[in-house]
Amino acid sequence: MKRIFLIVLDSVGIGYLPDAADYGDEGANTMATISASPFFSVPTLRRLGLAHIDGLSYLKPEGEPEAAVARAAEASRGKDTTIGHWEIAGLVSPAPLPTYPNGFPDEIIRAFEEQTGRKVLCNKPYSGTEVIRDYGEEHLRTGALIVYTSADSVFQIAAHESVVPVETLYEYCKIARKLLVGKHGVGRVIARPFEGSWPFSRTSRRHDYSLEPPGQTMLDAISSAGMDCISVGKIRDIFAGRGITEYVYTAGNQEGMQRTLEYADKDFTGLCFTNLVDFDMVYGHRNNVDGYARALSDFDVWLQDFLPKLRKDDLLIITADHGCDPGFRGTDHSREYVPVFFCGKQVCPGNLGTLTTFSDIAATVTDLLNVPYDCPGHSLKNRLFQESAVSDQELVEAAKTAMKQAYAPYSRFHVGAALLDRNGKVYTGCNIENSSLTPTVCAERTAFFKAISEGVRDFEAIAVVGGPQGEINEITAPCGVCRQVMTEFCDPDSFRILLGHADGFKTVLLKELLPYGFKLKEI
Ligand code: THU
Repeated sequence: MKRIFLIVLDSVGIGYLPDAADYGDEGANTMATISASPFFSVPTLRRLGLAHIDGLSYLKPEGEPEAAVARAAEASRGKDTTIGHWEIAGLVSPAPLPTYPNGFPDEIIRAFEEQTGRKVLCNKPYSGTEVIRDYGEEHLRTGALIVYTSADSVFQIAAHESVVPVETLYEYCKIARKLLVGKHGVGRVIARPFEGSWPFSRTSRRHDYSLEPPGQTMLDAISSAGMDCISVGKIRDIFAGRGITEYVYTAGNQEGMQRTLEYADKDFTGLCFTNLVDFDMVYGHRNNVDGYARALSDFDVWLQDFLPKLRKDDLLIITADHGCDPGFRGTDHSREYVPVFFCGKQVCPGNLGTLTTFSDIAATVTDLLNVPYDCPGHSLKNRLFQESAVSDQELVEAAKTAMKQAYAPYSRFHVGAALLDRNGKVYTGCNIENSSLTPTVCAERTAFFKAISEGVRDFEAIAVVGGPQGEINEITAPCGVCRQVMTEFCDPDSFRILLGHADGFKTVLLKELLPYGFKLKEI
């Protein structure tokens, strides 16, 4: 791969995670909420396979996906932007960033007051517009700084530009940043300058000072390898600038999409990493369901124009960092699964199932760019790109041909299988029944035993088709015994099972068909 575009739709979660109750988020589902809005229209995402993603069948999948799609769980503790993006970039965080529902502790505030020479006002969670309305005049009178937080891990400093020049406010933020480390390592220190007279208005000179990622991210790996690592939007802030070779800030989704489109026309080698912030900032936190739906529909329109810009060696990944269900109680983020789309001319489409960590993205990106990088995630390269000489479609056709040999006079249920080994050789099988019934052997096992008896042990995929009298309508899923045989010889994480049906075939992984397959250790 030469160019990888990675777009984070900020907060576009697709359903609460199994541990959501720990975060007060059981029941949250950003996608379900916005999909009920009359403004929800996402034909491009649907075409790519949105509704095929695990848990999204309520969106009614039609046809086969054009992209490889997956659902990803967050392995980190936490549900904020920083932790989510860090995990996408390969860093799993065992603890959430600290939040301060009762304000910052005395020792922090005292040190901050001492080093800035100014007193602190407020020091509690507050809305950004209300805090300047309620404390702005006292700040003007006394020169004390308005320090406040939110449900997020943030230390925010508001000051009137006539009292504290913006450059000085930025210096104060740097002081706070140095104080807020270790157990008080908040995700961001934010300068919140404002102007005018009561009720005041915030200026655009906001500035964020992020915590440095506590370990190497894929951005460090990519830029150290001499490749481009381009940030569009707030990505640069989330990584405290680390590992980024080029950046452009944006005023919101429209500009973020525009800039990303411009990069599609440029030559670069490496990663273009975009964050589209409006879903979260403008709609999610403000519980604006229709606005959120409209924003995703706008993205969908943009995506339709963007996709043709992808060159042969390009990959586009679309995902999210957490949820923020605008229809759920409160205005906070929600602990949700996120969608993952892999789009590209050479990508094998299909549903990749559920990934256990966002960091599979980092593993995949670095693997595809050929950059050495170690992280908890697993690369999906082999599943995204067919290296075998035999295509999935051809394997399904081979299974159909094999089905013609089925010996099934008792059930009249004909089954065919085609097993692909790592060298591109195909072994076929059919079901072979018996008057005494129990000696019956399924098509899959016939294929496996043929191959194994010829010394083959390394398998990539099997296609299975079947139906009454050989009429293929619905899928024929391998029986439990065949799944167990597969478990004996195949890697559950990568061995693919192609299930043929009337309109094509569906791909599943062995681990999805037989989780916890029985294995004895070899002795
Ligand atoms: N069969 C297979 O060949 N593969 C499967 O995975 C399911 C079942 C065959 C065995 C039998 O001949 C017929 O289908 C009906 O059970």
